[in-house]
Amino acid sequence: MTQPHSFFPIREEGGAVLILDQTELPHRRVERELADLEAAAHAIRSMQVRGAPLIGATAAWGLALAMARDPSDSGLNSALALLGGTRPTAVNLRWALERLKAVLLPLSPSSRAEAARSEARKVCLEDEAANRAIGQHGLKFITDIAGGKAGAVRVMTHCNAGALATVAWGTALAPVYAAKQAGVPVHVWVSETRPRNQGLLTAWEMREAGIPHTYMADNAAAHLIGHGQVDLVIVGADRIAANGDVANKVGTCLKALACREWGVPFHVAAPSSTLDWHCPNGAGIPIEERSGDEVRRVAGAEGAVTIIPEDSPVANPAFDVTPARMVTAIITERGAVAPDRLSDLYPERKP
Ligand code: MRU
Repeated sequence: MTQPHSFFPIREEGGAVLILDQTELPHRRVERELADLEAAAHAIRSMQVRGAPLIGATAAWGLALAMARDPSDSGLNSALALLGGTRPTAVNLRWALERLKAVLLPLSPSSRAEAARSEARKVCLEDEAANRAIGQHGLKFITDIAGGKAGAVRVMTHCNAGALATVAWGTALAPVYAAKQAGVPVHVWVSETRPRNQGLLTAWEMREAGIPHTYMADNAAAHLIGHGQVDLVIVGADRIAANGDVANKVGTCLKALACREWGVPFHVAAPSSTLDWHCPNGAGIPIEERSGDEVRRVAGAEGAVTIIPEDSPVANPAFDVTPARMVTAIITERGAVAPDRLSDLYPERKP
């Protein structure tokens, strides 16, 4: 099966690492080269690339770029520190850096550059394969609903957990792409996701793929869920604790609450690289607090406009934690289970 989308969030061409700059979307489609370690760190911090799996993949490439310039132990350690400090919540960042560190540290500096490149390629290939598998496991939830109703299956999502947030396919949107390929009619409710409006990215992806969708204000979610307009919700994750608590883009928990009230399935789709077995529950997940300017301004095709005076205090927590009890199923590349059965998919993690 080929990729269901026409763009590459990150790719390698003739030795160069190219990213699709998501701060330009949906208004302009601009590819940029990551020339060095600093460019990779900047891309993650400024959200030119974003979404947990793509952050991990970009960090892997950032380390490869660093090793091409300075493969010494101190070069490796300072690159790990720089990249590791870019964003705190998506555990895929730490996962990718630890993975490359384990490969590179035992090697002599002269062989690190090529080994880092090869491992970064593997991280990307594995992300694509994991997300494709998530699509197939998640498709079952959609086809089950399709079998019992007329018309399209109505999926609500939050933020962008599509292909743009990964190397390919996406996580929450992988089952939607799989449904489209399988000929199962779907319609996607795309939540705006203030303050950075990642819903615009989801709408752009859905438009590119020809998948019916409707963009909506975040505040409309409970109304739509409560009025029978949503068959299931699928969101991604930035970190899933060992007990199944899920950190995802702020606003996710409100959708889960509405789903619990009205009995609508609430699924979380994420690759294994998003699971944090060292974190027993959601209380241990660091929540990124971003600049208040993201709340003070709204960005559009013609630039940003200020909507609240500069000296008005604002808060901007970028993620929230949805308790495991509100999640119907967690879908990984290994299958779909209730959150309290997550370790059944990972027997190697059982004591
Ligand atoms: O701040 P962002 O845009 O990086 O946050 C992204 C999300 O919260 C996504 O839902 C999550 O990373 C899952 S991506 C497949």
